[in-house]
Amino acid sequence: MRSFIVCTITLFLFSYGYAFSSAPATAGELAAQFDITRCLKCHEEIAKEYETSAHAVSTGNSRFLRAFREISGKEPDTISAGNKKKVQKACLSCHVPQIDTAPDGLTNYISLLIIKSSLNDTSAQKELAELTVNCRVCHMMQGMPQGKVQPMTIYGPGSNEDEESHKEEYGFDTVTSDYLLSSDFCIVCHDRCPPDLPESMCSSLHARAERHYNVLRYRQPCQKCHMQEKGSVTHSFPVK
Ligand code: HEC
Ligand code: HEC
Ligand code: HEC
Ligand code: HEC
Ligand code: HEC
Repeated sequence: MRSFIVCTITLFLFSYGYAFSSAPATAGELAAQFDITRCLKCHEEIAKEYETSAHAVSTGNSRFLRAFREISGKEPDTISAGNKKKVQKACLSCHVPQIDTAPDGLTNYISLLIIKSSLNDTSAQKELAELTVNCRVCHMMQGMPQGKVQPMTIYGPGSNEDEESHKEEYGFDTVTSDYLLSSDFCIVCHDRCPPDLPESMCSSLHARAERHYNVLRYRQPCQKCHMQEKGSVTHSFPVK
């Protein structure tokens, strides 16, 4: 009996933070695992900036929605029917990174939400709006190289290591990650053509970015130009 209780508690704890021991079954469950309501409440300034950023609307962007639908609907010579799901999953891995732990059925469901959203289905859009590149994606799921993160841990630049309020609010540890300050952190999502995708499919989407990164990546970290303004950090991710 005692071990049952311990198991249940552990399961609960693990499914609360990242990584999860139990896979989410529905889009709502997945969104709940990445819920940022409380992050936004305590981090008001950052919330304001973040909400104006492209990351906050990474699944609301009509150009992305349309491109995804086209790739899913048509059958270009370059993609066999069997590869279509793989391609969808590749798109989602950066545009909806939350799907990492989702079973195939849920990934397919989210693909369908994207297609419906591109056709102006407002309830699909609403569901999808909960799944963006958000605080938990960057500070928990992607906080260490290769996603090798601890459960229930917030990674930050380190000025507030072991932050008490995170411990009290969620039981989360706050750990310093130098990786977060490197270009490598951004490049996971911001570099070149995804694996398994023919170059021809990326030319209009990510090739311009690729040139940009290849020029810049070895000089200054991305954060220097896209997150730092007048000596402080901004989450609006300006492009200027
Ligand atoms: C390796 C990560 C990654 C993968 C995989 C990926 N994308 Fe992107 N995509 C991005 C990033 C980052 C941006 C925004 C910055 C940029 O333009 O480079 C973007 C931008 C876009 C845009 C342009 C949006 C605009 O505002 O004009 C479209 C369209 C798009 N992606 C569609 C897709 C589709 C469709 C797939 C799957 C075939 C896909 N992406 C796969 C990371 C990725
Ligand atoms: C796209 C990834 C990304 C997203 C999304 C993101 N952050 Fe950050 N955040 C970073 C990076 C990278 C840094 C370190 C920037 C630096 O110091 O140059 C950072 C720094 C911080 C800091 C330290 C600020 C400081 O002044 O030193 C806090 C607090 C923070 N983020 C909270 C949040 C919250 C809350 C959200 C959601 C509203 C959020 N972040 C969303 C990547 C992200
Ligand atoms: C109960 C209030 C509270 C909540 C909820 C909260 N934070 Fe914080 N957080 C703080 C305080 C206070 C600090 C230290 C001062 C500051 O940076 O604002 C901090 C610091 C941080 C830092 C910087 C850590 C470092 O290394 O310097 C990050 C990153 C961060 N929070 C992310 C998050 C994320 C992501 C969430 C949601 C999962 C979240 N916070 C929820 C209060 C909160
Ligand atoms: C988990 C994946 C992911 C990570 C990590 C990430 N981004 Fe992004 N970023 C995206 C996606 C997806 C978009 C495109 C959203 C859209 O569809 O418009 C984007 C958009 C942007 C944009 C806006 C581009 C435009 O055309 O307006 C900037 C700037 C940006 N990211 C900078 C960064 C920087 C700097 C970092 C590292 C500190 C970073 N991103 C980390 C996925 C990511
Ligand atoms: C020296 C400053 C600087 C650095 C470092 C830098 N950028 Fe940029 N970035 C810019 C400027 C300026 C623009 C807008 C003009 C343009 O499109 O070239 C831009 C544009 C962008 C865009 C908008 C879409 C696009 O491709 O035009 C994205 C996304 C982006 N940068 C991401 C990144 C990432 C990721 C890194 C790190 C690998 C990075 N940047 C490093 C200055 C910089």
